[in-house]
Amino acid sequence: MDRYLVFGHPVRHSKSPFIHTLFARQTQQELEYGLVEPAVDEFAQALRTFFDQGGKGCNVTVPFKEQAFTLVDRLSPRAKRAGAVNTIKLTDDGVLLGDNTDGAGLVADLKSHGVTLADSRILLLGAGGAARGALAPLLAELPSELVIANRTHTKAQQLAAEFHDLGPVTAQTYEQLAGPFDLVINSTSASLQGELPPLVPALIHTDIAIYDMMYGASDTAFISWAKQHGARQTMDGLGMLVEQAAEAFTVWRGIRPGTKQVLRELKRNLGVI
Ligand code: ATR
Repeated sequence: MDRYLVFGHPVRHSKSPFIHTLFARQTQQELEYGLVEPAVDEFAQALRTFFDQGGKGCNVTVPFKEQAFTLVDRLSPRAKRAGAVNTIKLTDDGVLLGDNTDGAGLVADLKSHGVTLADSRILLLGAGGAARGALAPLLAELPSELVIANRTHTKAQQLAAEFHDLGPVTAQTYEQLAGPFDLVINSTSASLQGELPPLVPALIHTDIAIYDMMYGASDTAFISWAKQHGARQTMDGLGMLVEQAAEAFTVWRGIRPGTKQVLRELKRNLGVI
């Protein structure tokens, strides 16, 4: 049977095996999907062993995405732009192809929630790996403006300069931000520590869409805060998780699974509904 897995550390609580098993059942593909948690300095060896032993493809998550970028034989254009690889496929001619489906997953999830990206003003919080992966797919949707704000301003400036050729992207400090924005995307890891990016409440209004790439069984700190200040449309990163997985599955199997039912089952599994 064709073998796939996700590499990460920690990865024990990953939902990817659950999601891909449901995709395989839905599309009647015969495959198995597991998880491996190599020591942080043993990822390269673990990756080699997996493909030497007949593995067909894998996902890569924190903290290995940047390392995976350096280990594959060939990169897709979107992985090259993202500077990170979350999906690897062994092609028929034996080449390890590195791809990145995170940004496509974000955009697909935003669209499935009815968020309009064309001509919109987008505020992207954070300038780490998650922000980098989102930029090209977001700019491809032709927003009128995309502002990056980050605690360490120089990182936001670097990122804006790097993606400037793709669209109207600028960097501003949290203090400089002036609304109204149509969409705020939180790509920071602040919610992991229950913290908030230092955004002023005046930027939140009833028609704004709020997206947190993080998710949990209950609202993230950022989503709770935005709701408190009047945001009516809030979304967490669970849909992005399922959409990036669907995109990876399509890369591997050449068949696109449906995501709605799988997202519902995942929410049930997490106790969200
Ligand atoms: P990832 O790959 O998930 O993007 P990362 O590359 O470590 O992770 O980036 C984390 C991002 O969250 C950074 O933009 C970080 O800001 P700094 O560049 O200033 O470190 C941001 N971040 C983390 N904790 C934060 C907090 N409490 N408030 C605001 N931003 C925070």
